[in-house]
Amino acid sequence: KKGGYPHFMLKEIHEQPDSLRNTILPRIQNKLPDFTADNIPDSLFDGITRIVITACGTAMHAGLIGRAMLEKLLRLPVTVEVASEFRYQDPIIDKNTLVITISQSGETADTLAALKLSRERGASTLSIVNVKGSSIARESDYVLYTHAGPEIAVASTKAYTAQLACLYLLAFRFGFATGKLEKEVCMDEMQQLLSIIPAVEETLAQDKVIEEISKQLTEKEDLFFIGRGLDYALSCEGSIKLKEISYIHSEAYAAGELKHGTLSLVTEGVPVVALATQQKVYSKMISNIREVKARNAFVILITIDGQEAEPSIYDYHISLPEIKDDYAPFLAAVVLQLLAYYTSLHRGLNVDQPRNLAKSVTVE
Ligand code: M6R
Repeated sequence: KKGGYPHFMLKEIHEQPDSLRNTILPRIQNKLPDFTADNIPDSLFDGITRIVITACGTAMHAGLIGRAMLEKLLRLPVTVEVASEFRYQDPIIDKNTLVITISQSGETADTLAALKLSRERGASTLSIVNVKGSSIARESDYVLYTHAGPEIAVASTKAYTAQLACLYLLAFRFGFATGKLEKEVCMDEMQQLLSIIPAVEETLAQDKVIEEISKQLTEKEDLFFIGRGLDYALSCEGSIKLKEISYIHSEAYAAGELKHGTLSLVTEGVPVVALATQQKVYSKMISNIREVKARNAFVILITIDGQEAEPSIYDYHISLPEIKDDYAPFLAAVVLQLLAYYTSLHRGLNVDQPRNLAKSVTVE
């Protein structure tokens, strides 16, 4: 069942080229994104003035990346809400709001409740779900399935990248359908989305390098993930993954925010996983890394091929295949998943079934 892998998590991490292919390819017609087979009409965005994304855990982190893409391409305000908070907040939503719920299992109680509340208040609802026919899928006006296949490990991996792919497809289709994204540009974005599949394969080939680096983390009890923009959203995901299965405390921090309090915790040997995949904020990010290195932090730097980084600012460096800023999250996610996996493995823990956690959280 584990296909020769020692754990479901490792198998599922390595399945990502396939799960991305299965999620993206059926939604391409004439080089453009197309949801005809999903029964999602172009009229979905008629009258919509804002989008609310609501989900829990890793699915919510996918939403953080989705927000950036949807705002950029649709020029509509998007907020991301933790479902367990949203449902009790008396949210301001109406028929002009599109509520996107994201869930691997489709059974998460808080996400389901947030969805029901949104419907009661007249919002249009679309869900991005992995399990066919699940409660969230049934309760939504429209469903965009992630074709990631069954995800068994408690730590969500291939579902997350498939959720990202769905959010990107939505941004492209509706950017195009609403006339905000020119056809040629939309086609070009689709090409780039497809190019992540071989790039994820290349990233997976660094498995052994990441395993070696993770040995440096096994004895640690606290660490930081830092980044800016999409890399900050990814830091949140890297942090939950590590905490969940390695039981090491970690915190995700927007790199520019460190000096407003948290830098006092960065002392000699404290590991900092620094994500610097975003060209547009690269020099700012490097300055932040210098700040932590000046406190003798133990820096694991993640950049894109071709980006210069002086060796004095890092202890380990992982370089990802060259790719545009918007597509880097797919690759960086793989690195963070492998880092969490091997750290848990080297600590001798139950990778697939961490303590206190369930795969599907059907109680609130
Ligand atoms: O099934 P869902 O996607 O709704 O689950 C949401 C979270 O419980 C889930 O993503 C959780 O955070 C993962 N175990 C993290 O790896």
